[in-house]
Parts: sequence; structure tokens; C-alpha cells
Amino acid sequence: MPSAAENTKGKQVSPFHECNTSPLIQLAFSSLISASVKNISTRIAGVGAYTPSRVLTNQEMEKMVDTTHEWITTRTGIQERRIAAPDEATSDLALHAARAAISDAGIDPRQIGLILVATASPDMLFPSTACMLQQKLGLAPVPAFDISAACSGFLYGLQIAHQFICNGTHSHILLVSAEKLSAITNWKDRSTCVLFGDGAGAVVLEATHNSRGVIDILLRADGSYHEILRVPAGGSAMPVTPDVIQQNLQFIQMSGKEVFKLAVTAMQDIVEEILEKNQISPQEIACVIPHQANTRIISALADRLGLPMDRFFLNLHRYGNMSAASIPVALAEAKAEARLHPGDKILFAAFGGGLTWASAIIEW
Ligand code: UT7
Repeated sequence: MPSAAENTKGKQVSPFHECNTSPLIQLAFSSLISASVKNISTRIAGVGAYTPSRVLTNQEMEKMVDTTHEWITTRTGIQERRIAAPDEATSDLALHAARAAISDAGIDPRQIGLILVATASPDMLFPSTACMLQQKLGLAPVPAFDISAACSGFLYGLQIAHQFICNGTHSHILLVSAEKLSAITNWKDRSTCVLFGDGAGAVVLEATHNSRGVIDILLRADGSYHEILRVPAGGSAMPVTPDVIQQNLQFIQMSGKEVFKLAVTAMQDIVEEILEKNQISPQEIACVIPHQANTRIISALADRLGLPMDRFFLNLHRYGNMSAASIPVALAEAKAEARLHPGDKILFAAFGGGLTWASAIIEW
């Protein structure tokens, strides 16, 4: 369903530029548009996921660093993770997931009006990974940009897309979360290298007049904790030099225990807040799809909500922590396993570097 600002081929048509009107007329026009887009919400029309074929098991990790399968499984729940091939970039992973989501939605790719990529491991500093993906999909000149919110990136992207849909700018948006974390992992640091994996998940978001779709999304950030989970070098603050490389500052650093404590509290609080705000009880939630960092964080959330663990969708034992990609890959797998039924309320919760955290509730 093309919006007022989008023609049938998904090509952008700005009414303001075309009309070259006065500010007063523009104001009247935008009131007209907002009146006509009232009651629009966002539904997930299609989902897709891609994980590389190379499986790296805990037993293999035992040969790489001083760790054990027992330590990794009891402290995190992770048994194995996927690793992208050397010639596979984040945008390549994103492309597979995007194609799967577009096919699942059953739309013509030319209906897509905006491409968003949430990632903490972009192909390069710029151009954006979203532009690389747009080129691979052959969708120029559709706008495309990246979202940097680490593990909360998918929910930040969902909120951005939801706003563009609700204000009538776009009727179809492709949101992809993709990570090649293996490229920014220090494979000699046992405290981080056992945790992360590569993968991509995607959704096609569509304007709907039906009550089903996004119910609410909450986003939070606190930059005062930026040092406890980060990649210090490679940006303007610390360009890469031989000295930086020698100190491994181009890789992920995390104060695991500190992040763990903050993650437990922040995720529980933001989930309780969204449930209370929308007057939804935990028992009404059919499926919780949390960020997949650590089973202990997820079981603490289950305890606080008084929900059994089987209400949560978990796949971190197979993939580890895929940062922004964790939630949409889990969503695609939950759908494939017939865990989601029309009318179900699905709760999402994420936490990650920034610090950023977020929650969302949708009706499937
Ligand atoms: O996705 C973004 C958000 N990220 C998260 O939410 C991750 C949050 N953090 C965590 O999940 C946990 O803190 C970790 C899984 C990273 C670590 O678990 P922990 O129970 O907090 O362990 P710890 O860091 O306190 O380390 C306990 C011990 C230490 O040894 P000592 O000092 O007690 O002798 C570590 O050196 O475990 C040691 N250790 C390991 N031992 C074997 C750390 N990594 C390993 C390892 N294998 N891979």
C-alpha cells in the first residue's frame, strides 16, 4: 500500500519539493497528511535469517584459549557459534537475510521505500552497510542508513521504521540487523571470544490499518557507561596505528560482570515499564524474544516476570551473542517453528553497548 509520499514503484516523491509551496501551505498540507495517516500502525510482513555455515564449537574453543565447554555452558548457555567466511562481509550476511524476509513478505522489492541496517560491525566506517546492501539488492535510489545501538539496534531500528510508517512517509521498510563480530573479536581474549557469533536477521515492515502490529516500543541509553563495552580503536578518537594493533584495541572489550549486573536490572525495569504502560500482564505475553547474550540474564527476567522459561524463545546455545542480529534471527526461527500465532502478543527486550536498552510489544 503506497503512502502519500511514495509512488507505486517505491520511488520517493516529496510533495513539498514538487509543489515548491509557502511554509503556510506546507503546514496545512502536513496537517492533511497527518489526518490521512491516522490509525496507521506497523506490522511485520516478513522475516528472514541467515547464519554462516561454519560452526565453531566450545570443544574447538578449548583448543584456542584457556577455557572449557563446561565453563562456557554453565556461565552463558552457549554451545557453539557461527563464523562468517573471510570473504563474507556484514552486508553479505545482511543480503541473505533481506532476501529471505522480502520473499516471506511476498512483496516486490521495489515497494521498499527505506533500508535500515543495525550493526556494530559494519563493512567499513563509511559508506554505511545499508548503502552496500542497497547496491546488492539493486534498489537505488531508495534511502539507506545504518543504526549504531549495538545489541539494542534491532529495537532502535524498529522504532525508527515505525515512525516513518506512522507519519506516512513510507509504506514498506526493510530493517536488517547484521553482524560479523568475528572480525572485531580478540581471539586470544577468553573473556570475550567465547561469547560472540556472526549472523543476520531481517524484517519487512508494512503500514497497516489493522489493530495488529506494533503496540509500543521503549528506547533508553546511558553514555556514562560507554567504557564497559566497546571497541576503543578504529574511529576518530583512536585511529588505528601499529601501537594500537599491538595492544589489540581494535577489538571488542567488555567488563563482563559489570555489564551483566546492569543488563539484568535494565532489562527487567524496561520490560515492567512497557507492560505497565500498556496495561498488559506478563501472563498475556505468548512469547518473549530477548537479546541472546546469557541464559542467566534471561532466566532472571523470567523469574521477575513470573513466567516459565518455555515462554521465552532461546537460540543462544547455537549462535552465541550476535549483538543486533540476535533478536531478528530468533524471531525468524520462532516463526519457522510455529511458535507465533495470529493475535499473539510478543515481547522483545534488548541490552547492549552504549549503554543502550529497549523493549517492544507487538501483536502478531
Ligand atoms: O550483548 C551485550 C550485553 N552483554 C552481556 O549481557 C554480557 C554480560 N556478561 C556476562 O554474560 C558474564 O559476565 C560473562 C559470561 C561475560 C562472564 O561470566 P561471569 O560469571 O561474570 O564471570 P567473570 O567475568 O566474573 O569471571 C569469573 C572467572 C574469572 O576467573 P577468576 O578471576 O575468578 O579466577 C575469569 O578469569 O572466570 C574466568 N573466565 C573464564 N574461565 C574459563 C573468564 N572467561 C573465561 C573463559 N573460560 N572463557
